[in-house]
Amino acid sequence: MRTVTSAAAMQRLARRWRAQATRVALVPTMGCLHAGHLSLVRRARRAVGRPGRVVVSLYVNPTQFGPREDWKKYPRDLVRDQRLCRTAGVDVVFAPGDAQMYPSVEGEAFSTWVIEEELSKEMEGRSRPGHFRGVTTVVAKLFNLVLPDVAVFGAKDYQQAAIVRRMVRDLNFPVRLILGATQRDADGLALSSRNRYLVGNLRRQALVLRQAVQQAQALVRGARFPPAAAWLRSALKRRIEQHRDARVDYIEFFHPETLQAMRQVGPGAHLALAVFVGKTRLIDNGRL
Ligand code: PAF
Repeated sequence: MRTVTSAAAMQRLARRWRAQATRVALVPTMGCLHAGHLSLVRRARRAVGRPGRVVVSLYVNPTQFGPREDWKKYPRDLVRDQRLCRTAGVDVVFAPGDAQMYPSVEGEAFSTWVIEEELSKEMEGRSRPGHFRGVTTVVAKLFNLVLPDVAVFGAKDYQQAAIVRRMVRDLNFPVRLILGATQRDADGLALSSRNRYLVGNLRRQALVLRQAVQQAQALVRGARFPPAAAWLRSALKRRIEQHRDARVDYIEFFHPETLQAMRQVGPGAHLALAVFVGKTRLIDNGRL
């Protein structure tokens, strides 16, 4: 396994692979890898086989964090991530620094952004202004540097995957997107690098996100008529906030492809929610 830190070197390598007609799969990550990422790596390998190449990018992208968010303290451990990637059969780890990704060339600052204007308005987009501009810009850059045939994203970030899919369609990136299933701990908590912030009984309280999705599934599937979104939202919020340290950021019901909000919620709708558990903001989602 090779580690590449320079953007130019990554692009040179990718162009060589392309000239040899070698298929390439990219798994974009912010590092601090866990079993969820490793399942995306396996999915990537299945997609390109051998002698296809699997690239994992490790980059804590500053432009997708708000000024009061956890960019500075976001966990970073390159050596551990490299070890996990090597064991998982990754071919190349791409771990650029900020100067590689957002260069200020001859004093001229980085000033070009990729902005998706429709799907990014609600949910994460509303709660984290500028977040998706950072995501789409860095993903577009990664696509241009790694030149993947396939890119694998996790379903836990459901809105992110929908936005990247739209960007790929609208800007004609020749990349096939694959959505890897959310991986969970045995008790149902969705794996996330931020779970390590959950100390003491916050970890137990965090289970309420998954429980809320299950409660919504039971209510929607058991109802004779599709319940009103407002009623369902209040029922879930009440349950979540019974936990001392849990505070709902948003609970949304929407069409799984267009992300259009729904007023009546029938089977087949999608639910996404964000909840602060202590100071840690967690997300989860599920099909109803
Ligand atoms: O999902 C993530 O880890 C990040 O948003 C991504 C796609 C790697 C872009 O920085």
